[in-house]
Amino acid sequence: MLLLTGATGSVGTALLRRLTEAAVPVRCLVRDPRRLREQRVKVQIALGDLGDPRSFRHALRGVQTVVHLASAIRDQPSGSIEELVAVATYRLVQAAERAGAQRFLYFSTLGASTYSRARLMRAKAVAERAVIESSLAQTVFAPSVIYAPGDPYLTLLERLSALPVMAIPGSGKASFQPIWAQDVADCVLATLPGGALAESSIGCRYELAGPQQLTHRQIVELALRSFGRRRPMVGIPVGLARPALKLVARLRGPAAFATWDEAELLEVPLLARDGASDARRLLGSEPRPMGEVLGAG
Ligand SMILES: NC(=O)c1ccc[n+]([C@@H]2O[C@H](COP(=O)([O-])OP(=O)(O)OC[C@H]3O[C@@H](n4cnc5c(N)ncnc54)[C@H](OP(=O)(O)O)[C@@H]3O)[C@@H](O)[C@H]2O)c1
Repeated sequence: MLLLTGATGSVGTALLRRLTEAAVPVRCLVRDPRRLREQRVKVQIALGDLGDPRSFRHALRGVQTVVHLASAIRDQPSGSIEELVAVATYRLVQAAERAGAQRFLYFSTLGASTYSRARLMRAKAVAERAVIESSLAQTVFAPSVIYAPGDPYLTLLERLSALPVMAIPGSGKASFQPIWAQDVADCVLATLPGGALAESSIGCRYELAGPQQLTHRQIVELALRSFGRRRPMVGIPVGLARPALKLVARLRGPAAFATWDEAELLEVPLLARDGASDARRLLGSEPRPMGEVLGAG
């Protein structure tokens, strides 16, 4: 049995489809099973929440492999970013050890560091350490920006592009190497039991990056082209964006369209040391360029 957290996210959706097609027995730790859509009848469901460690024990019964994708980029009613990323991963690792699991795959991020200015990056660094220091056979993935057509970020950009001017927080100069969620799912598959790198990936940390280096501004331009829209782009200085988004979060709570913690991440470059080489090795082919996937040329 394989336990998948984050099965309803961009990578999780792509990975779960591959796992069920291959008839791998999967249990999904989810908050709302309806978000699994047609996959929900093909898997075991463990209702749970990263903020509720009691839900981990039941989810892990009889599990050999854990793929831990679930994560939070904003504070939630069930916990802060630090609790849902760092503390929850530590607790999930401990529970997996107690339950007798053997294999643990964890999604960290490029740029994870306890010295980062971004809360998520600091929390991911702590979580990653908990995984590495465990007794489990572990593999860590550190991706650059992951995207999929229709994902929450591209959907937000599409909505904002209805306005006459496209506002982006900060300078938009930070660079990324966007990688498609479908390619990421194939990378993970290669390291799972039965995959080409199932054994050799144990103890490895893979930096997952796509084939192009793009600034945030270039990513937004590319997204606009894929929506068939041309808009002048205006950078909102950090000194304005920060208090404005903090006010929106205070007024709208969990329904805020964006938070400062999310916007700040767009100013932190996510570049792999060796570009797309880890992704290429795992895929056995080139990861797809973002413009091609989005149909933006
Ligand atoms: N996307 C990126 O650009 C990027 C970059 C670097 C690293 N990563 C890492 O890569 C992994 C996969 O990313 P992704 O883009 O597929 O993530 P995603 O689309 O944002 O999905 C997040 C997943 O986590 C689940 N989740 C959130 N809060 C939860 C909670 N309190 N309890 C249980 N589940 C919860 C969500 O479930 P619901 O459906 O219930 O919301 C969803 O399935 C994550 O660990 C992420 O941090 C992503």
